[in-house]
Amino acid sequence: MTGAARPPVDQERGQTCQSARATVPGHVAIIMDGNGRWAKQRGLPRLEGHRVGVERIRNILETLTQRGVRYVTLYAFSTENWYRPPEEVEGILEILHQALREQVQSLHESNVRVVHVGKVDRLDPRLQEQVASAQRLTCDNTGITLNVAFDYGGREEILEAVRRIIRDGVPEEAVDERLFRTYLFTHDSPDPDLIIRTGGELRISNFLLWQSAYSEYYHTPTLWPDLGSDEVERVLEEFTRRQRRFGRVDPEG
Ligand code: FPP
Repeated sequence: MTGAARPPVDQERGQTCQSARATVPGHVAIIMDGNGRWAKQRGLPRLEGHRVGVERIRNILETLTQRGVRYVTLYAFSTENWYRPPEEVEGILEILHQALREQVQSLHESNVRVVHVGKVDRLDPRLQEQVASAQRLTCDNTGITLNVAFDYGGREEILEAVRRIIRDGVPEEAVDERLFRTYLFTHDSPDPDLIIRTGGELRISNFLLWQSAYSEYYHTPTLWPDLGSDEVERVLEEFTRRQRRFGRVDPEG
């Protein structure tokens, strides 16, 4: 996974600068839903679904990288997921810890830049240090950027941006879209061009609320652990047939 230069970001829209006829999405964000159902269908504990789900990530990342995607954001744990049964929350935190321990070096060797998006203060000190060290190790990598949204919520992100803008004493007239996006957890990435949700639900679930204003959506009933490269290829193919107008009129009529 080596990388060419990142595509320029249109600072007004936060979108990668691409023509209206979409080609390769610069940024793909994924709601990885369906791990629990996948496990239940097989009579396995829910955590087994999460374990297999994490194993799928590498393969999907490679497919997206090969197709020229430059940013991938994975919705791994939402601010609402803390309300799941304590043993499931504990298990997911353990899976994250294990994934960081086992995968970060290899992601680094693949030139991947790992970025955490979300709150860190509710994670235990061991995880906080692991997240910080993964970011330090990979921060100069020039390949794909992998944003891991963990303890992430779109509403919380917007509130936190507002709090920081006030704390910084930013004058009212200076608050515009361009400034606001620099206060988001995702300030380092363009807005997602494409959001994929697995698991069959048709909702956004508090994911990238600001950033998804002009994202294209793709929903699939496929459960996350079953998502294969062939379906990802088909999604990317479908994306090329979307006409993106960003609220404007199609210049080709
Ligand atoms: C959605 O399936 C999945 C989650 C809420 C958690 C997934 C997170 C991990 C497996 C850890 C992430 C770690 C890394 C390294 C990114 P669900 O439980 O909502 O499935 P269901 O809708 O079938 O119940």
